[in-house]
Amino acid sequence: MISIDKISKSFGRFKALDNVSFDVRNGEVVGFVGPNGAGKTTTIRICVGVLPPDSGDVLIDDYSVTRDKRNASRYVGWVPEIPIFEPDESALNYFVYLAGYYGMGTSEARSLGRKLLEEVGLGDSLNKKLKNFSLGMKKRFALAVSMINNPDNFIFDEVLNGLDPLGVAFFRDLVKKFKKENRAVLFSSHILKEVEDLADRVVFINRGKVVKIMTMDEIKASAKPVLVIKLRNLDSRAVDIARGYSENVRVEKDAIYIYNPKTEPADIVEVLVRSGYKVEETKKEEASLEEIFFKVIGESK
Ligand SMILES: Nc1ncnc2c1ncn2[C@@H]1O[C@H](COP(=O)(O)OP(=O)(O)OP(=O)(O)O)[C@@H](O)[C@H]1O
Ligand SMILES: [Mg+2]
Repeated sequence: MISIDKISKSFGRFKALDNVSFDVRNGEVVGFVGPNGAGKTTTIRICVGVLPPDSGDVLIDDYSVTRDKRNASRYVGWVPEIPIFEPDESALNYFVYLAGYYGMGTSEARSLGRKLLEEVGLGDSLNKKLKNFSLGMKKRFALAVSMINNPDNFIFDEVLNGLDPLGVAFFRDLVKKFKKENRAVLFSSHILKEVEDLADRVVFINRGKVVKIMTMDEIKASAKPVLVIKLRNLDSRAVDIARGYSENVRVEKDAIYIYNPKTEPADIVEVLVRSGYKVEETKKEEASLEEIFFKVIGESK
């Protein structure tokens, strides 16, 4: 269990976190989302004890990060946003070195290293130097390291970033396994589709404040249809026309997203065509987490 209790943090005069509180219960997967610079990494660094908060505290299985950092750190596995390792060490040797921090002897650490690195798909790169690892390989290595101590709590910061489709699938399975094993998982991501698939709850953060917490059931229940119309000659007049059919219209690249349209798609398309627009594609999707993200973040500005 991870309990974040009223943490605040300033860098100079800039308040990066303002009274952030939320829990991640055992057996629960929580997605942590928000725009760039919202405060996700800062929150995470405080949770794992590498950055002290100005006020507030985080409990990891009842161990305080501020008062009992040693124990708190033992019970949480962490994959940092940008994993930094000793570049000239080989993967296995560096793993053994890190395992030493957990009091593990060399031979035990070597066999655990082989097993975990194999598990994360690095079995062929045990003796490769870390400086020659790609971003995805570094993330995989960091995943293996986070499991050294077999902790009951995990925090992953943008772990999907840089992973190939196989790596993403591996991560997905791993999180599901952790959930079954009643562990607590907090993960930040900009890939809302993955958050939607994995999380039981989503914490939205913006400008250092938690602006909303929703269960995935609540998010799914509020899912509404969205009509996506791709136009070859998209301009502001076309967007104005679309606004006549919905209170929530968004433009992305050459497409208009019309949320919960008041009229049948064919009627909207017909009006656009009659107004001289070249419709290249129309499709109907279910908007859920992405739409809610824009709404929640937009309203919190
Ligand atoms: N060590 C630091 N010194 C000064 N400012 C910092 C420091 N660390 C973070 N910040 C600032 O705090 C704010 C929150 O940063 P943070 O890295 O937590 O955002 P984030 O939500 O993780 O963003 P992203 O999605 O881009 O990873 C940003 O404005 C950032 O510039
Ligand atoms: Mg970050």
